[in-house]
Amino acid sequence: MVTLGIPNESNSGETRVALTPDAVKRLERVGVKVVIESGAGGAAGFPDGHYAGATIAADAGEVWSACDVVAMVGAPTAEQVAGMKRGAVLVGMLDPLRDEELIRACAQAGVTALAYELVPRITRAQAVDVLSAMASLAGYKAVLLAAVHLPRQFPMMMTAAGTIRASTVFVIGAGVAGLQAIATAKRLGAVVQAYDLRPAVKEQVESLGARFVEFQIEKKEGEGGYAAAQSESEQEQQRRQMHAVIAGADAVITTAAVPGRPAPKLIDENMVRAMAKGSVIVDLAAETGGNCTLTAPGSVVVEHGVTIVGLTGLAATIPYHASQMLSRILTTLLGMIADKKGNLALNLNDEVVAGMAVTHEGEIVSPRVREALGLGEAETVTQGAAK
Ligand code: NAI
Repeated sequence: MVTLGIPNESNSGETRVALTPDAVKRLERVGVKVVIESGAGGAAGFPDGHYAGATIAADAGEVWSACDVVAMVGAPTAEQVAGMKRGAVLVGMLDPLRDEELIRACAQAGVTALAYELVPRITRAQAVDVLSAMASLAGYKAVLLAAVHLPRQFPMMMTAAGTIRASTVFVIGAGVAGLQAIATAKRLGAVVQAYDLRPAVKEQVESLGARFVEFQIEKKEGEGGYAAAQSESEQEQQRRQMHAVIAGADAVITTAAVPGRPAPKLIDENMVRAMAKGSVIVDLAAETGGNCTLTAPGSVVVEHGVTIVGLTGLAATIPYHASQMLSRILTTLLGMIADKKGNLALNLNDEVVAGMAVTHEGEIVSPRVREALGLGEAETVTQGAAK
């Protein structure tokens, strides 16, 4: 039987859990035995007592040192990884393009690290696409935050006390989070406009009932369905053209991102100054520096009378449903890395598993991570582990 360990999250602000109780029995039927560290599901609304059929471990060591697969929402510490069995599998959002210390620790420990951030954007991988699942929740929550901070309401309302006009929402970046933001703002009755560098999304934006704003900016469709990075002068050109649309918006939701790079700066101080007092910007790109130059990552600030919400980790503010999504994804992933008899069966020829693999048998195997860390093509990380 494969043992799956669910430890407490290392990040104290993390509220989500990688596995929800409903999955325990289902996994047992396919040869996966669950060991959960006491309290791991508590903040998401899943106390120990709900995990019927799982072993509740009072001691974190029982999870880290004994399990074949350890699954988290976020990333562990390098010390926790050092305590894992050689050949064990670590799954989580490991921030592999930035956290070099952790990645080297995984290689050193002989752990196969599978990072959700590296799930390839292909149809077969959609069922394990954590980033998309979490981005949907963040897009939804961003609109709720905008509505709460705005001194106006979203829908048009005809009352005996007069007619109130609908608020105008401008969404920059119509990827997974942006499309969910558009849909949520529409449901709340706002007039919604959106823009993305990738021309392919115009139709999706319009199908949600929003208007796609056209600018004269070079289209930037990059690899794997993502946008390609812009130069500073291209960003300046974009800022100039967006100025009037932003000035006329009551709420701006920005989600523009390019994987592995700082977020493009699309709203500068002058543009914030041009917005009406009381307007709101919710910057979903805050985690990678923000799309607005005045965003304070992790905080809500008021600048020139405009509320700028730079809160990060919005999906973790919906921990119950976020955990349910993460749990379903983990269950699907286990089906890809364990056979029906309950043995680990890591197939690095599988496009999805190979795409997620950061380290394996002592080496950093992901070309994207190697490039991000400035490593050559085939560096051996631990002595004697080279193949
Ligand atoms: P993301 O989080 O990397 O970026 C968000 C959005 O910002 C993207 O739509 C991007 O084009 C846009 N953007 C970047 N720079 C910009 C700029 N300067 N101005 C305006 N917009 C800018 O992307 P996300 O949401 O994770 O996914 C992007 C696309 O990837 C999806 O819409 C979809 O087409 C594709 N995808 C495919 C999947 C699959 O096939 N399994 C799964 C998820 C996404």
